[in-house]
Amino acid sequence: MYTLGIETSCDETSCAVTKNCEVISNITISSLKEHKKYGGVIPEIATRAHLKNINRVFELALKTANITKKKIDLIAVTNRPGLIGSLVVGVNFAKAISLALKKPLIGINHLHAHFFAPYLDYNNKIKFPFLSLVVSGGHTEIYQVKSFNEIKTLGRTRDDACGEVFDKIAKAYHLGYPGGPVIDKLFNDAYKKEFLFKCGKIGFDLSFSGIKTALMYKKIQMEKNGEFNLKMKIKLVSSFQYSALETIIKTTLEAVNKFKIYRVACGGGVLANQYLRERLLEIEKQTKISFLISPKKYTGDNAAMVAGLGFYLYNSLGVTHNLRMKPEAN
Ligand code: KG4
Ligand code: ZN
Repeated sequence: MYTLGIETSCDETSCAVTKNCEVISNITISSLKEHKKYGGVIPEIATRAHLKNINRVFELALKTANITKKKIDLIAVTNRPGLIGSLVVGVNFAKAISLALKKPLIGINHLHAHFFAPYLDYNNKIKFPFLSLVVSGGHTEIYQVKSFNEIKTLGRTRDDACGEVFDKIAKAYHLGYPGGPVIDKLFNDAYKKEFLFKCGKIGFDLSFSGIKTALMYKKIQMEKNGEFNLKMKIKLVSSFQYSALETIIKTTLEAVNKFKIYRVACGGGVLANQYLRERLLEIEKQTKISFLISPKKYTGDNAAMVAGLGFYLYNSLGVTHNLRMKPEAN
């Protein structure tokens, strides 16, 4: 069964073709460069870029998969959560294809697609129940997944998402955009405990705005003292990354221990982080927990994860979800 996946929830325009759960093509054009000078995604620019790129990305995805439009059996599109203007482009494009080809259409939750990424290409077998961890630019969430019909949110960030704080700190420190990959590269293990920053935590809920503010105050203070040089910035962002990621790991482990569920599917842009990936694998070696981590090529926003989850939902549950677009997750 060929599924066409469409993802336009933020600044990536992506179309993919999967054959069952195997990714045949996955084409993404990002408008990241156009947002760079603002240090964050500008929704209007993202929407216009989707409009400009969607048809090209679609044609390229089919060409790479070496199939014609007629071969498509199912269309899966991200319809929540996301920037509303961006979602409108993808969902309407998907509706048009579905109508023209008379093929079923299914709406996909972007966050569920992120934690489905480890199951693409049959890398892992889906076994319920499992926990899932999604850490991205807009969300930091821990779920209990009894089935794809029963997903309970155990915890989420009460303010800024983890990736968002990487981006905001890098912006304030003039290190570049997006901040996640920049801080990941600058991270120096020797400096991870140089400053003892703390993140907020209530049960399984997290808070990152406090640590962000602490980093901003450090900047002001260091600038006054003439100490805000590159070495100092590296010390500060290394301590930040360590504290933020260790808090997420600690919270996830608490959920594992409370629910006695030892499988954790992990996805989202921040899962590209080298330190985070290594730590999860290290914990896996020392415990009976299996961390199913999204391959790096599927951590950021992509349509392959949307197509894969669409295929799975359509076949296991026989559903085509309603296509109401929503900025929020549920
Ligand atoms: O999942 P994603 O592509 O988009 C959203 O759904 O938000 O995540 C983007 C986020 C950005 O905040 C970016 O800075 C962060 O993922 N990110 C990283 C890394 N690569 C991307 N954060 C930490 N380390 C990385 N290597
Ligand atoms: Zn995402």
